[in-house]
Amino acid sequence: MYVARKIAELRKLLCDEKKKGKSIGFVPTMGYLHEGHLELVRHSKKDNDITVVSIFVNPIQFGPNEDLRSYPRDEASDLKKLEASGVDYAFLPTVDEMYPEELLTFVQVDRLSEPMCGAFRPGHFRGVATVVAKLFNIVQPDRAYFGMKDYQQLKVIEKMVKDLNFPVQIVAVQTVREANGLAMSSRNSYLSEEERKQASSIYRALLKGKELYEAGVRDAEAIKNAVYDELSKVPTIKVQYVELRDAETLEDIKRVEKPAVLALAVFLGKARLIDNIIIG
Ligand code: PAJ
Repeated sequence: MYVARKIAELRKLLCDEKKKGKSIGFVPTMGYLHEGHLELVRHSKKDNDITVVSIFVNPIQFGPNEDLRSYPRDEASDLKKLEASGVDYAFLPTVDEMYPEELLTFVQVDRLSEPMCGAFRPGHFRGVATVVAKLFNIVQPDRAYFGMKDYQQLKVIEKMVKDLNFPVQIVAVQTVREANGLAMSSRNSYLSEEERKQASSIYRALLKGKELYEAGVRDAEAIKNAVYDELSKVPTIKVQYVELRDAETLEDIKRVEKPAVLALAVFLGKARLIDNIIIG
């Protein structure tokens, strides 16, 4: 595995691969890698000749009171995992390499960025779309892999690629979970042993909502209330939002008539956790 830290260096190497006719799969991450990330890598390896993984904790997608400074990092362990997974190129730029001067150009995906996490994290999706656009221009992949765990992010990136004609295919990958249902996340490292057990009720709550739908309930309020009820059994969990929205447009819905995303964000201990499930 080649570890590149400079944009020019990576560009040159990937340009040579392209000249040889190799297809390139790309997995952007912020590191502290877990099985969710490695699942994206497995998909990329299956579909492409070359797999590139970036690790970059992107400062412009964190708000002033968020966890940029405490975000978990372990470069040595991440590189071991990528090597063992058969990744061809790891790209680990510094903040200076990605943002050498004041950035005046941003990618803003309207509407899709506004509800759900966007309402509580102003500027977050602008930061995500901007860095992903930069990474796409650096790597120029044929395919890029995103997890359904960050469902709103996936929809924002899909729309950006469509609207701006990026020549890349976005591949969505199912959420990888712990045995107890907790969606894997780098931020799970903020949880104590006890909190990890409590966090199993997050997925259980989403499943409760889905069960109601499968039992014939279509009323959005009833489904969301079932999720709240299940979460309220764990007093340490503080709900930020529970939303049921159209799975494509992320518009609020009163009834589930088409595929919908049941999504939530909660605080548990020091962690803000998000999860979702598709229903209908
Ligand atoms: P990060 O949180 O490191 O996630 C990198 C990718 O892994 C994202 O596409 C995310 O959806 C996916 N992922 C995370 N946990 C997952 C799980 N349990 N199952 C499946 N996929 C999972 O998301 C980001 O980084 C950043 O916002 C980034 C896109 C890299 C831009 O900075």
